[in-house]
Amino acid sequence: MSRSYEGQHVIISFESRKCIHARKCAQNAPHIFNVNADGDWIQPDKGEVQQAIDVANLCPSGAITYQLKNNTPTPEVKVNTAHIWENGPLALRGNLNIENHGASQNATLCRCGLSRKKPFCDGAHIKGEFQATGEVDAAESESTEQTGGQLNVKPLKDGPLYVTGNLEICAGSGRLVKRGSKMALCRCGQSNNKPFCDGTHKSIGFTAEG
Ligand code: FES
Repeated sequence: MSRSYEGQHVIISFESRKCIHARKCAQNAPHIFNVNADGDWIQPDKGEVQQAIDVANLCPSGAITYQLKNNTPTPEVKVNTAHIWENGPLALRGNLNIENHGASQNATLCRCGLSRKKPFCDGAHIKGEFQATGEVDAAESESTEQTGGQLNVKPLKDGPLYVTGNLEICAGSGRLVKRGSKMALCRCGQSNNKPFCDGTHKSIGFTAEG
């Protein structure tokens, strides 16, 4: 469920089902995002507009978004990236178009196979004790200088996330792992070549909506 909070210059929206409690809001602009408030916990006019924009850009799950009231469009992301979180989800930032979920700039997508909110992470990796390094070895990259543009994410039925568009896969530390324009990313949690799909989802009988 998404709820919007309107200020004088900016509307901030919060989609609770995407939130993974990364706490970028409370850490970077606690005066706007007061998680202990009795009433509305988001108060756009309690800080600068730029602070609200910065928090929305930092919010890895995409739960917090903003719209300027003067209708200035949200700038495109220059480099589409997917960061591999150790023992956790893939954190995507880019000009995302996630099939059946629309456009966004940030999203944390399940890669342990346990989320009940697939394709989004719901934190189930913690209880499920999912273990996977964020520091995988570098793989061969496509020779392209393109980094932006639309990134389409298609969760395949009972299979991986099929991603088309310019994308940099990055280790948790930010190191480049692979640059490409077409990739299948594991979301069953069992690939021996994470974060890439190696077909293991078939042998383990992984099921997920497309
Ligand atoms: S989705 Fe995990 S191996 Fe294919």
